Amino acid sequence: MGVILEVKNLTKKFGGLTAVNDFSFEIERGEFIGLIGPNGAGKTTIFNLLTGFEKPNAGSIRFDGINITGMSPYKIVNLGIARTFQLVRSFKFLTILDNVSVSCLSPRGKKVSKDIGTEEYASSILTAVGLVDKARIPPIVLPHGDLRKLQIGKAVGTNPQLLLLDEPFSGLSHEEQLGITDLINKLHDDGVTIFMTGHVLRELMTLVPRVLAMHQGKLIADGPPREVAGHKIVLEAYLGRGEGFA
Ligand SMILES: Nc1ncnc2c1ncn2[C@@H]1O[C@H](COP(=O)(O)OP(=O)(O)OP(=O)(O)O)[C@@H](O)[C@H]1O
Ligand SMILES: [Mg+2]
Repeated sequence: MGVILEVKNLTKKFGGLTAVNDFSFEIERGEFIGLIGPNGAGKTTIFNLLTGFEKPNAGSIRFDGINITGMSPYKIVNLGIARTFQLVRSFKFLTILDNVSVSCLSPRGKKVSKDIGTEEYASSILTAVGLVDKARIPPIVLPHGDLRKLQIGKAVGTNPQLLLLDEPFSGLSHEEQLGITDLINKLHDDGVTIFMTGHVLRELMTLVPRVLAMHQGKLIADGPPREVAGHKIVLEAYLGRGEGFA
């Protein structure tokens, strides 16, 4: 398999606040891994650093053997890291099909779409995410669960090796969560390495075999969800803020 992502001593400061503090971990190719931590722990900042939306103050990030530390987001996506955002973002004046087609026109997306055509590739992604019946309408009319699916579809259109999902279950009903769970499992089965955040461990517990826990910018535990959930420092990090795992 081999290491796909190697993060060493990553640090990000916003003024006096250290949002990510000397954070190191590795992800193996094909892994399915979670990142948990209470609100403000630094999860989104880690994703922003991995995708070039923020530049680190210290530390390094290697992806697929390449040093991507401080690289621009477009270069990073062209190497094969795609992401979704915690708050959904779409091109609201384009149809759902065109929203995904934009990603299919990216350099890595074109590797697939040049043979089958952009529309065909985008449609196949909409089928996978369960939105093909809504291809010709704008996203503005979609319920929240469908918007989250569209975010994943747009990321998948760039043909990623590593997919970062920031709180993919946030704001969803239980039923909608199950739909997204199926979709993420399918992508993982197709060989995409998945790294996803959540601030309640329960959602991730049944999905991922490995989870990183962070608190105040620091990595505090790394292991199987059950082990991490029982970790004293993890319990304190959550219970100290009145949040739990149940
Ligand atoms: N651009 C920024 N400027 C200043 N402070 C920031 C910025 N981005 C994040 N922070 C701060 O960094 C810390 C980590 O924020 P981050 O959004 O990474 O946490 P999170 O774990 O994703 O939280 P949540 O569970 O609420 O999504 C917080 O204290 C936040 O206020
Ligand atoms: Mg966040």
